[in-house]
Amino acid sequence: MTFKINNKVVGPVAFGLMGFTIRPKQTPYSQALKTMKAALDNGSNFWNGGDFYGPPNANSLQLLNHYFTQYPEDKEKVVLSIKGAFTFHPMGPDNSPENIRKGVDTCLEVLDGKVFVDIWQPSRADPKVEIEKTIEALSEYVKAGKIGGIGLSEVNASTIRRAHAVHPITAVEVELSLFTTDALTNGVASTCAELGITLVGYAPLSTGFLTGEFKKFEDIPENDLRRTLPRFQPDLFHENLRIVDEVKKIAERKNCTMAQIAIAWVKSLNSKPGMPRIIPLPGTTSVARVEENTKEVLLTAEEVAQIDEILAKFPIQGHRWPAFLQPFEDA
Ligand SMILES: NC(=O)c1ccc[n+]([C@@H]2O[C@H](COP(=O)([O-])OP(=O)(O)OC[C@H]3O[C@@H](n4cnc5c(N)ncnc54)[C@H](OP(=O)(O)O)[C@@H]3O)[C@@H](O)[C@H]2O)c1
Repeated sequence: MTFKINNKVVGPVAFGLMGFTIRPKQTPYSQALKTMKAALDNGSNFWNGGDFYGPPNANSLQLLNHYFTQYPEDKEKVVLSIKGAFTFHPMGPDNSPENIRKGVDTCLEVLDGKVFVDIWQPSRADPKVEIEKTIEALSEYVKAGKIGGIGLSEVNASTIRRAHAVHPITAVEVELSLFTTDALTNGVASTCAELGITLVGYAPLSTGFLTGEFKKFEDIPENDLRRTLPRFQPDLFHENLRIVDEVKKIAERKNCTMAQIAIAWVKSLNSKPGMPRIIPLPGTTSVARVEENTKEVLLTAEEVAQIDEILAKFPIQGHRWPAFLQPFEDA
C-alpha cells in the first residue's frame, strides 16, 4: 500500500536519524551518509530527525545539511519530518508560539534550503501552552510555503482533535511495537484513521530489545540510556524476554530476523479494520541493518494471530519510559 505526503510517495518503512547524533559518541558523517543513502536506495524515504538529537551545532539538522550538500539530487526523494521545541537542559517542551517560531526558523536556517521540511512537529505536548496556539504559529509557516505540513508527537486523541481543528495534521508519531501497543487502544490510532492522519510508529524494535540482541540486563552497554528503562531492569527483564523468545520462534520458522518480524508486525496493522495508514520508524546507524530492516517481510494472517496470542499471554511489564521522561506524557 503506497501513499503520498506533499506529492511524494512514502516508502513502507521510515528511517530514524536519532542514533547518528544523540549518542555520547556520534557516528562519523562518512558512515552516517552511507547509511542514509542505503535507506533511500532501499525505499526508506520518510526520514525523521530532531533539533535536539545532539547538541545545537551537531544534531540531525547539520547532518542533513551535510547529506544534501553531498547528494543534492536526493532532495526531491525524501519526505522529511523534523521534531523540535524540546530541550534536555532544562528538561521539557516549550511549545509557546515564540519558541515554535524560533525552532522552525533555526531549522530552516541550518538546512539552508538544501532540503524541504515536509513536516515540522513539536516533540511533546506542552501542558503550559494550548495546542491551538502552537498549531496557529505553525500554520503560518505552512501557509507561507516554508514547511509542508504539521505533525504531532506523543499526543493523546484529544490533542490530535484539537490540533487538527486548527490546521490539518499530516502525521502523528507515537511509540508503537510489540512491546508498546497503547496507540491501538487509547484512541490515537482510531482518531488518526477518522481524520486521515498518517500514524508513524517509532521504535518498532523497542530500542533494540526486540532484536534478541540482549539476553540479560548486563548485556546492555554501560552508560547506555536503555539501562534506565523500567522494562529492561533486572527484575522485569526476563518477564519481557518471554515475548522476545516467542517471536524468535516465529522468525526461525520464517527464516528471517527478529527485527524483520517486529517491523513486519507494525506494517501488518495496516490490514486491520479501523486502522489509519501506519509506517514503522526504526533507526539504525549501519548499512547492513538498514538493508535488514527494509527487506520486505510480510506476515501471514496465521502469524499475526500467533503474535496476538503471544502478546495476550505475556503482557509487557514496566513503563516504557524512564522516570525522568514520564512527566511529559500527554495524559
Ligand atoms: N517521537 C519520539 O518521542 C521519538 C522517541 C524516540 C525515537 N523516535 C524516532 O524513532 C526512531 C527509532 O527509534 P529508536 O532508535 O529509539 O528505536 P528502534 O528503532 O526500536 O531501535 C533502534 C535500536 O536498535 C538497533 N537496531 C536497529 N536495527 C537493528 C537490527 N536489525 N538488529 C539489531 N539491532 C538493530 C539500533 O542500533 P544501531 O544504531 O547500532 O544499529 C538501535 O540501538 C529514532 O531514530 C527517532 O527518529 C521518536
